[in-house]
Amino acid sequence: MSPSPEHKQSIKGVILAGGMGTRLYPLTKATNKHLLPVGQEPMIYHLIRQMRTAAIEDILVVTSTDHMGDVVRCLGSGEEFGCTLSYKVQEKAGGIAHALALAENFAGGSPICVILGDNIFEYSIAPYVGGFRKQKTGARVLLKQVGDPERYGVAALDEHQVIEIEEKPAQPKSSLAVVGLYLYDDQVFDIIRAIQPSARGEYEITSVNNAYIARGQLQYDVCVGQWTDAGTFESLAEANRILGATHNRILEHG
Ligand code: G1P
Repeated sequence: MSPSPEHKQSIKGVILAGGMGTRLYPLTKATNKHLLPVGQEPMIYHLIRQMRTAAIEDILVVTSTDHMGDVVRCLGSGEEFGCTLSYKVQEKAGGIAHALALAENFAGGSPICVILGDNIFEYSIAPYVGGFRKQKTGARVLLKQVGDPERYGVAALDEHQVIEIEEKPAQPKSSLAVVGLYLYDDQVFDIIRAIQPSARGEYEITSVNNAYIARGQLQYDVCVGQWTDAGTFESLAEANRILGATHNRILEHG
């Protein structure tokens, strides 16, 4: 039997683990934020384990020049996780979309699953990746109801779809944050080339997602279970609480 069209190319993983982690200073004085402990493991283990729950086998880790040595020492070839790891240096920070652009050769035309290295999920991401596998084209994002939407990309919805995403709006139009898990087809790199930097001088992932909305090609899921980023002391404590409770085990959906 020939494979269905949507399964022709396997999804590759991209973990974005750059940045200075300034909000966690001095914890990040000597090391990368993504190597800090969460529960009983370095934070970045969680992202690799999440990708493995979704049967993603080929994963690129993007990090800064300063911390690449530590990250490689920590993760190695990927053998321990049953996957193949590749690495790419981000010379200077220019926003999430700027970091993602570095993954173009690695992706080589395959669809990609992008995770921000400081996002912690109580439950497996497999169903969201599975939903994307059934899409023929476009992108898929994950939304989560939060109490402080102004800290995130915020999605405005009509009855059927996401109609707009605003990055850190002063007056959010909803309480649905866009979680740091993005699924993209091979159009993403052309889209990144076409976007302009934001007012804060960054190539925003929100601009990429809005470009997919303009094409009528952005779908979404709502995140099940607990989720947090871990970029501040408060959220890092929350991440430790979530993964501490399961001894770093990722829960399967009932
Ligand atoms: C980034 C994105 C934002 C998203 C968030 C999720 O923000 O720009 O849209 O909601 O990650 O963690 P940052 O954490 O880099 O401020």
